[in-house]
Amino acid sequence: MKDVIVIGSGIAGMSCAVRCAQMGVHVTLVSPFPSERSQSVMAAGGINAVLPEPEEGDSIASHIADTLKGSGYLAGEKAVTGLCEGAGGIIAFLERIGTVFSRDASGRPMRRAFGGQSHKRTYYCGASTGKQIVSALVMEVRRFEAAGLIERKLRCCFHSALIRDGACYGALLFDETSWQLISLCADALVIATGGQNALFGKTTGSTQCDGYAAGRLFMQGAVLKNLEFIQYHPTTLETPQKKMLVSEAARGEGGRLFYLENGRRVYFMEDKFGPGGNLMTRDVVSREICRTGKEVFLDVSFLGRKAIDERLPEVRDLCARYRGIDIAKDPIPVVPSVHFFMGGLAVHLNHETSIRDLFAIGECASMYHGANRLGGNSLLAALYSGFVAAEEIAARPGKESWPDFSGDLKREEAALKLGMSSESSFPVMYIRDMLAETMRDHLGIVRSEESLAKGLEEIDYYLSVAERIRYDSSVLPYFNYSITGILTIARATLQCARARTESRGAHIRSDYPETDPGRQFATLVSFDQGGCRVWLDKEHIYES
Ligand code: FUM
Repeated sequence: MKDVIVIGSGIAGMSCAVRCAQMGVHVTLVSPFPSERSQSVMAAGGINAVLPEPEEGDSIASHIADTLKGSGYLAGEKAVTGLCEGAGGIIAFLERIGTVFSRDASGRPMRRAFGGQSHKRTYYCGASTGKQIVSALVMEVRRFEAAGLIERKLRCCFHSALIRDGACYGALLFDETSWQLISLCADALVIATGGQNALFGKTTGSTQCDGYAAGRLFMQGAVLKNLEFIQYHPTTLETPQKKMLVSEAARGEGGRLFYLENGRRVYFMEDKFGPGGNLMTRDVVSREICRTGKEVFLDVSFLGRKAIDERLPEVRDLCARYRGIDIAKDPIPVVPSVHFFMGGLAVHLNHETSIRDLFAIGECASMYHGANRLGGNSLLAALYSGFVAAEEIAARPGKESWPDFSGDLKREEAALKLGMSSESSFPVMYIRDMLAETMRDHLGIVRSEESLAKGLEEIDYYLSVAERIRYDSSVLPYFNYSITGILTIARATLQCARARTESRGAHIRSDYPETDPGRQFATLVSFDQGGCRVWLDKEHIYES
């Protein structure tokens, strides 16, 4: 029987595991935490699809066109077409495994308006779409666990891939219970570890998603793509610990953005873009909020308490709980914050990376969103990419022979032991905090050569200090060994942003404010003798 290792057990990882198991492929599903604690449970907004009986005038072709336009025309047409055409099947699968979508009085699934979309096509499960999908997938995974087709490895972290001559043969895993490295061979390795939130510290997502796997694989030869495109969600609520997402659903229901000037409200998005201004794509709304230089508010109070209770209960609750705001009476103060990473591991249409038999799916893969993602397309892409990778793996012949990786294991064990042998003079969490500050300061919504160069200087300093880090016993061992990978991907991100001398989608340069038609290509970056080689994918090696 063929064997696959899937790293990460959120929605993308579970969808891949389930699809593999359905086709008789054995899966080892690895994660430090149970799926119920994955970032996927935070997804509130919904999932896009054009189903039978769509909104009048809507079609799969419109979904494709909106996604391509929203991406700054950087997403690849073939990839996006597959995604949008596959959406109906994904919703049917979710319903089959027990996901309960919200329905209207006549039993039809309800849909909401989301930014940058010409029609209402975002389907949702009350205020907890992500949680509902996770619960349904967890049950499905359990079914295949009972059948011996899925084996879960909890409290286990990805350490590195087993690679020989450009092909992947499995992974080294760090077992948090025994504190040992485990060497596990497989026919394919699938990475489903989410975005790079830890680079920025406070985001709308989980800092469990820290970019380490992508950073480590980059150091092992995998090509990364489009790292400079980082989505700032326009409406989040500032709290001491986190940026809480005020779902785009609030603007989908008619919410209006404004700032105050001499005591009067200025509805700046409507003034500039007309009645649909509040629901422009996220890159545009965040940029405009940033341009106001003012405190910005979101008003939904005119909807009335009944409609708010029915349609925006999650926004109502989080504003009341975290800031004591009654949104039926008062406007919500909002700030743009990092929400999603369009860039990540470069993958081909079948989700294979630049390394044979190494796949990437979900947010850690760069594929469907180009320079800016549409709300509701990430849950779709997480599920769809899991299916695509699984089907590719199942269709391939299994491996016939395996190189000897005992030397790799010994080398990494020795490095890990050395790393844990003496106390750190630079606490690793301090470096993580400094990194987040650097990234927030120098890779904000608007960047420039000056800010990016300064950011790189700071990261180089942290990297030099990281080499002197020894074990910090106050945090998990994983936090110690992951720091170099995280700093390396942060460095590559700043370099990609520096190399893109234009403004496009979520990448806005104050020194290059125009979009350059000559740069309508993905950015690729590879690890070259400790440095980065950055180039444009003019040959379309990777479908964007
Ligand atoms: O605003 C939101 O509800 C976010 C949804 C998404 O990023 O897909």
